[in-house]
Amino acid sequence: MLVIGPWGVDDLPVVAAIEATAPGAWNAAQLAAELARPGGFQWLIRARENSPALGLLCGRTVLDEAEIFRLTIAPTHRRQGLASALLVHALARLAGQGIRTCHLEVRAANQAAIALYRQLGFNEQGRRPGYYTDPAAGVDDAIIMSKTFATGEQAA
Ligand SMILES: CC(C)(COP(=O)(O)OP(=O)(O)OC[C@H]1O[C@@H](n2cnc3c(N)ncnc32)[C@H](O)[C@@H]1OP(=O)(O)O)[C@@H](O)C(=O)NCCC(=O)NCCS
Repeated sequence: MLVIGPWGVDDLPVVAAIEATAPGAWNAAQLAAELARPGGFQWLIRARENSPALGLLCGRTVLDEAEIFRLTIAPTHRRQGLASALLVHALARLAGQGIRTCHLEVRAANQAAIALYRQLGFNEQGRRPGYYTDPAAGVDDAIIMSKTFATGEQAA
């Protein structure tokens, strides 16, 4: 049974190791800073209680809007529904706390993530040409995607 919970300081090494597998990955210091971010939310997913973390999601809320910054699943466990489960959990929490809209940015070349976000109700709002310049992951446009929660919606 999948277990989703908040991450803390003790989880940072494993969270950073998973994140390091993503294009344009955030480093451990950036992930640690998330724990102190006002309005920040950080979730990790495990296969079962006390088993190693397999994926992470983080973002922040400002008033009635949210933004997702990072969503990364360990390469060995991709395409098993973990990102969907993590995102559904995060979106349900956001809707439950009165958030109206959730935004994110994704590399135009990241068709896996774009398909995932579309599946969960995100729509493309625009594009920032050449937004990503990370030399390791290559230059790419950012696609801006948003999901608006229906009034009273509690889950994605
Ligand atoms: C993108 C990512 C988070 C998806 O995680 P995942 O756990 O493998 O995704 P899921 O198994 O929940 O897949 C859900 C849906 O996403 C889409 N999807 C996921 N991986 C895909 C792939 N490799 N190719 C095409 N579609 C894909 C599919 O629509 C899939 O539904 P389906 O399996 O019913 O077809 C994962 O590949 C990853 O960590 N990538 C590196 C980091 C990254 O790019 N994060 C997003 C940054 S915005």
